[in-house]
Amino acid sequence: MTAETQQDSWMASGSDLMRKAMQNRRLLPDVPHMKPIIDNLPAGSVVCEVGCGPGGITLDIAQRYPQLTVLGMDIDEDSIKLAKAAAAKAGTTNVRYAHGDACALETLAAVGGFGALNGGCDIVYSHAAIMHTSDQLAAIKQMRSACKPSGTISLKEGDMGLFFAYPENPGMKKWLETFPVLGLSKGADPYLGRKLMSLILAAGYTHAQIKDVSMSGQMQWRPQVKPGMVMGFGQMIKQAELAEEDKKLIIEGLEEWSKCEDGVVSFPSVIVTAVK
Ligand SMILES: C[S@@+](CC[C@H](N)C(=O)[O-])C[C@H]1O[C@@H](n2cnc3c(N)ncnc32)[C@H](O)[C@@H]1O
Repeated sequence: MTAETQQDSWMASGSDLMRKAMQNRRLLPDVPHMKPIIDNLPAGSVVCEVGCGPGGITLDIAQRYPQLTVLGMDIDEDSIKLAKAAAAKAGTTNVRYAHGDACALETLAAVGGFGALNGGCDIVYSHAAIMHTSDQLAAIKQMRSACKPSGTISLKEGDMGLFFAYPENPGMKKWLETFPVLGLSKGADPYLGRKLMSLILAAGYTHAQIKDVSMSGQMQWRPQVKPGMVMGFGQMIKQAELAEEDKKLIIEGLEEWSKCEDGVVSFPSVIVTAVK
């Protein structure tokens, strides 16, 4: 991991376990609001995911829509390596990946196959990535610039203001309080969801160009997230700057929660779609 990605070890690209989990993401159910927009694209259109991680969603889109070109970029080199390997293994040739910073998206236009970032993309979207960048407004402005006139930007970002787990125990309660605070300390914005409308206007879109503002919430239940919660977050908590007794409390809480058959954890996401 590079110094740049260190900041992001908060939630996303900090461990192989997290990368593997993200590789299972798909158009449905993770970004279902994108499907009707992609369905309407003519052949030859370009779709780009900013902060694509290990490429689960981009690969799925490329396979469902072989007539489109799909681009994925991410600041985490290891994620990009995984994405490229998965596409090569699947023999999918209409998807390309590049390593870079969303806040300087335009610099990737010089990379072979990424020229569309120079204002030629039909859709530029992100899923749970902009909150991790060092400058969320800069990233959204760059996404807007990458869109062609009448191109679509689509953002889906979480908001941990309503972050809950059930059943709760003292360690889980501490973890729910601590996790967003750790994100803030690393320069991420765990409360980005509620600010998306404001940022999209600040990025130059008008109210008339905003096509959708909605909220979604996937309730994750224990078997889906058990390894990530216990091992991934446990590892993160061990490395965090926290009092030893708090680390112990949280790790025990995560382990206890992971044994509950009825365990669930969730926070909502805000979706904003706008047309240039
Ligand atoms: C929670 S993951 C989501 C990955 C992917 N969008 C998905 O849903 O599977 C967040 C991703 O944002 C990436 N990221 C964070 N800061 C970034 C930046 N400045 N530029 C590009 N990607 C960034 C991380 O490396 C990570 O892969």
